[in-house]
Amino acid sequence: MNQRQIALGAEYLRQGRLVAFPTETVYGLGANAWDAAAVRQIFAAKGRPADNPLIVHIADYATLDQVVDHIPPAACALMQAFWPGPLSLVLPKKKQVPAIVTAGLDTVAVRWPNHPVAEALIRQAQVPVAAPSANRSGRPSPTLAQHVAADLGEAVDLIIDAGMVAIGLESTVVDMTGSEPILLRPGAVTIEDLTKIVGPVSRAGYAPEQPVRSPGMKYAHYAPQAPLYLYLGEPSTVVQAQLGKAAELASQNQRVGILTYDQFAAKFSAYTPLSLGQYDEPAQAAQKLYQQLRRFDELNVDVILAHGYPSEAGLGLALQNRLIKAAGFRLVWV
Ligand code: TXA
Ligand code: MG
Repeated sequence: MNQRQIALGAEYLRQGRLVAFPTETVYGLGANAWDAAAVRQIFAAKGRPADNPLIVHIADYATLDQVVDHIPPAACALMQAFWPGPLSLVLPKKKQVPAIVTAGLDTVAVRWPNHPVAEALIRQAQVPVAAPSANRSGRPSPTLAQHVAADLGEAVDLIIDAGMVAIGLESTVVDMTGSEPILLRPGAVTIEDLTKIVGPVSRAGYAPEQPVRSPGMKYAHYAPQAPLYLYLGEPSTVVQAQLGKAAELASQNQRVGILTYDQFAAKFSAYTPLSLGQYDEPAQAAQKLYQQLRRFDELNVDVILAHGYPSEAGLGLALQNRLIKAAGFRLVWV
């Protein structure tokens, strides 16, 4: 662990500068949450719409109490079960949290990350740290420090590099301000995990007439540069459909990227296949997804034909959610 970089990062945060740092989910772009001017720089650096609120990162309960107004018992139980970890809880905010952090909402998302560098940085800074994923808005979240440098370059004052993140998908976000918890974004703390602790958890609806509960959900996200078509169905049928479409597109001189799994990759050697690892290993696929989407950009493919994740149980739900967003709803059922 790079103690000098952490100490420098903590100093920068106190000075109102931006520091990119590793967490167990993805790299974050941090600023002192008390400093509205510093937080404004996050929105500028990312090109992030001002109505999309940030997650505030803490590494002790005393700091949490300065940020949230009160903690309902069910939220307390989730903290005890999953913190530090990949779970963000939406709670009523204290007045002193600047409006820019929460995009004017009276709630704030809070998370205690499970990463020694993130925890040391937040503790040494002695402030809560507002941090979205450290990508340009709309790009895949960074799972390597190099992704942060490629997207944000000069806009960030320091990037603390701790190699590849462990999980690779952003935290689970749960709204705890109502009578029943609402899952706003699936992640590595699964709906099954949550239910064991707090009972039924509802899923945020995508119905257009409903108010948007989590502003981030309405934006196209995680997208590679080429259009991505997500194929859903029986594995062998999906592979056949990908092969058929790839041949058709290649005959039109399109460079075809294929997102697939180790078991099937050899079938696509005439094209540009990238693998998410073993078909039945969701943790592997989660860790590789964003890196592979970025590779397709480097490989300059014209179109991507992606094989959907076979199961929406456990981590599969989060994976499929990100794949669907990367597809921008270009879904192909076969
Ligand atoms: O794993 C993660 O959560 C990473 C690391 C750095 O901690 N952070 C991250 O932040 O993914 P970001 O900004 O990329 O995503 C935050 C999501 C957005 O969808 C946002 O709309 C939602 O959380 N959110 C934040 N505050 C909220 C609030 N008060 N109410 C509802 N949704 C909120
Ligand atoms: Mg993000």
